[in-house]
Amino acid sequence: MAHTVGRVLVTQDELVQRVGELGRAIARDYPDQNPLLVCVLKGAVVFFADLIRSIDAPLTTDFISVSSYGTASASSGVVKITSDLSISIEDRDVILVEDIIDSGRTIAYLKRNMLTRHPRSLRICALLDKVERREVDVDLDYVGFTIPNVFIVGYGMDYGGLYRNLPYLGALEAA
Ligand code: IMP
Ligand code: MG
Repeated sequence: MAHTVGRVLVTQDELVQRVGELGRAIARDYPDQNPLLVCVLKGAVVFFADLIRSIDAPLTTDFISVSSYGTASASSGVVKITSDLSISIEDRDVILVEDIIDSGRTIAYLKRNMLTRHPRSLRICALLDKVERREVDVDLDYVGFTIPNVFIVGYGMDYGGLYRNLPYLGALEAA
């Protein structure tokens, strides 16, 4: 079925505002711990780039790439790390940065996986929380927006690889 981007759910201005607030909250909570912010590729990359620039405190970055088997618009919960972190997280204060929490399966898997590596602390920062869709309970420490059950594209998020470059968050609709 053909798809197109329908209504704008969060504008570019609203993203700037909210991401700035999240960055200030993280800077307040980690004033001098040099937290390790882990970007979950690929969807979180645009959010991550804006978020780290709004954190006025020392920090380190790393990247992890996961693929979850499933259809284009729903994850199965079977998660595979396709590219791992490049540094050890042992005794580090880690913040996992995700684009969107849907069923919760991907982030629950990542959280379990990270905890086996003995970080000093582990928190989760997600731009979007699709709370109605939750199947696995996970505590989120920083959340940008709680959103309704619609498929989101833009600001890093894709459908079939497209739309990541949109500077706002839109709802995918049948054309
Ligand atoms: P979960 O494992 O069901 O929580 O799914 C999380 C992952 O599925 C996210 O990291 C996204 O990559 C993808 N995803 C879930 N919902 C959406 C959406 O509305 N738009 C784009 N990607 C989504
Ligand atoms: Mg993702």
